[in-house]
Amino acid sequence: MSKPLPVETNRTLLAPQGEFELQRNPRDDSLQAWDAADEFLLNHLHDIQVLSRHGKLLILNDAFGALAVALADHPVYSWNDSFLAQQALRDNLLANGYAADQVKTNSAIDLPSVAVDCVLIKVPKTLALLEHQLYALRAILHRDTRIIGAGMARNIHTTTLKLFESILGPTTTTRAFKKSRLILVERDHSMNEGQSPYPDSYELEVDRSYRILNHASLFSRDRLDQGSRLLLEHMPVEPRYRRIVDLGCGNGVIGIIAAAFNPAASLLFCDESFMAVASAEVNFRAAFALSRQAEFRVTDCLQGFANASQDLVLLNPPFHQQHSVGDAVAWRMLKDARRVLVAGGELRLVGNRHLGYHAKLKKLFGNCETIASNNKFVILRAVKNQASIPAASTPQKFDSE
Ligand SMILES: C[S@@+](CC[C@H](N)C(=O)[O-])C[C@H]1O[C@@H](n2cnc3c(N)ncnc32)[C@H](O)[C@@H]1O
Repeated sequence: MSKPLPVETNRTLLAPQGEFELQRNPRDDSLQAWDAADEFLLNHLHDIQVLSRHGKLLILNDAFGALAVALADHPVYSWNDSFLAQQALRDNLLANGYAADQVKTNSAIDLPSVAVDCVLIKVPKTLALLEHQLYALRAILHRDTRIIGAGMARNIHTTTLKLFESILGPTTTTRAFKKSRLILVERDHSMNEGQSPYPDSYELEVDRSYRILNHASLFSRDRLDQGSRLLLEHMPVEPRYRRIVDLGCGNGVIGIIAAAFNPAASLLFCDESFMAVASAEVNFRAAFALSRQAEFRVTDCLQGFANASQDLVLLNPPFHQQHSVGDAVAWRMLKDARRVLVAGGELRLVGNRHLGYHAKLKKLFGNCETIASNNKFVILRAVKNQASIPAASTPQKFDSE
C-alpha cells in the first residue's frame, strides 16, 4: 500500500523548498500564516532556479516570515515596517530549526545599503509604502538583480503595476494561481528620474504652529484623522498626569498635543511600525527640541513596559492589520493599557461608535464614561482601580479656535 500523502493543515506550508511550520503573530491558529502569493512565489523561484547559494536576497513586507523561513538557507535580508511581522519571522525561524537571527532584519526604516541579487516584494496594503520602496530599491539593484512582486489579485491594481513600471522599468504579470499573481519587473537602468515623495508633511489644522511629517506607511498620512481630531479636542489636562503614553502613536500628533497641554509631563510614544515611531520622533523634536523628556519605542502594544508605571494612556486603536480586519490588536492594547496604568490612572480613547469599545472598557476597567461623541466617533474614558472616580478635566481650547 502506498504511503498516505501528507495532509496540508493550515500550520504546515508545503513548498518545493521544504515543509515549514508557520504561525501568525498575534497567534491565530484558525488562519494561515502565508497566502497563495507566497506559495506561487516559492514555486516560481524553484522553477526558474534563480537563487544561487551565495546570492543576496532581499524580501520586503513578508507578513509572518513565510518567505524568509522557506528561503533561509540563502543569505536573506528581510525588511519590514512591522515589529509584529519581525517577531513572527523570529518565532517561525526558531520553530523550523533555525537560529532567530538566521535572517537579517531592519532595526530602523532604511533598506540595507548593500547591492542585492534578488528582490521579492509582497505588495503592501499602503500604496505609498510600495512607491517609497521602489524608489529606495534603485540604489541597491545591479544589472542582473531579479525583481519579483507578489500579491493576491484583489490587491494588485493598475495603479500598483504603474508604480513598478514608472519607477523601475517594464513590468508584466503572470497568470493567476489561487487568485494570486506575480509581478515580473525588468529594471531599466536608464530610468532614474524622480525620487520618493516620502516623507511628506501637512500643517495641523487645529493648531497651525505644528507641521506634521509622515513617512510612507503612516496612518492618515495626508491629513489629520477625524477621530484623532476629536481626541485632540478632548485632551485631558491634569497636573497629576506626569507620565503620558501615546499608544499606537502613528505620527505622534496625539502625544504632541498632550505634551503641549500638560507641560510637566514626560511622554512615551509606542507603535509597532518603524516608520510611525520615526515620524513621531521627528515631529516631537520639531515641536519641543530637547526641552521635553520623551521616549520613542517600536514594540507590540506596551510590551516591555512595567506594570503600574504610567498615569495616562491615549489611544486611537487600529482596526486592521495589513490586509486583514479585526479588533484583536485593539483588545490587547486595552488590556496592556490597564496593566501599565497606576491606580487612578486613565485610559482615554477615540473609537468608531459601532466598534463597541464602551462594553470592552466596562468589562476591563469596571467603569467607562462617554466624554464626547459625534455621528462617527466617541471619546471614552476609563479609570483603573478607582472606587470614586475623579471627574474628567474640562476640554482645553486650541488657540486657533
Ligand atoms: C488608528 S492609528 C492611530 C495613529 C495615531 N495615534 C493617530 O491618531 O493619528 C493606529 C496605530 O496603531 C499602530 N498599531 C497597530 N498595531 C499595533 C501594535 N500591536 N502595537 C503598537 N501599535 C500598533 C498602527 O501602526 C497605527 O499607527
